[in-house]
Amino acid sequence: MERAIFTQVLSVSREERGHFMRQNARVLWLTGLSGAGKSTVANAIDRCLTDMGYHCFLLDGDNVRQGLNRDLGFGDADRSENLRRVAEVAKLMADAGLIVIVSFISPFRSDRDFARHLMRPGEFVEVFVDTSLAVCEERDPKGLYRRARAGEIAEFTGISSPYEAPVYPDIRLDTTRNTPDALAREVVMQLGLVCPKP
Ligand code: ADX
Repeated sequence: MERAIFTQVLSVSREERGHFMRQNARVLWLTGLSGAGKSTVANAIDRCLTDMGYHCFLLDGDNVRQGLNRDLGFGDADRSENLRRVAEVAKLMADAGLIVIVSFISPFRSDRDFARHLMRPGEFVEVFVDTSLAVCEERDPKGLYRRARAGEIAEFTGISSPYEAPVYPDIRLDTTRNTPDALAREVVMQLGLVCPKP
């Protein structure tokens, strides 16, 4: 069926919004295993940037899956749809001028690449929260690894569903050697946002 849809030109441009908000929009995409520390680091980045006067918003998998994506499970196709919707939401938020922090396992390279290509050049920053399966399983903050090993949770990332680690992430974080605040500062510095916003 023909899709009779036209692109409407918006009268307030991205550039005008960026000038008004005195910041360049970014999408910081945190990927890593469950229990890797994504949410903790994402919150630390949000806090750090907000305290510096930047306008941010954090999209977290556990939260978005209770609302917009409550109809989706953890099979491969549902995970891809989960990430497609989140990428589209992140793009809208970036269009609104925000620095968007996205914290999802996002286990498949193709889904992360889709998100990268949706954004403007240089806008997407892939942050690999590189915590090994052994460490995540040892931490097991929600008791999910234990339940997955016992066969109570199917298709659990790292146990019975794959995780494709980024080959060339823009930023790689080691959560076993640094505090969340130190990692957040590292990310903020690598973004070139070292000083409080003018
Ligand atoms: S993703 O793979 O689609 O990107 P997402 O980040 O949204 O995953 O959700 C992951 C969270 O869902 C985990 O932190 C965990 O609390 C919960 N969860 C429940 N079931 C699973 C599962 N089978 N695999 C991974 N995480 C699960």
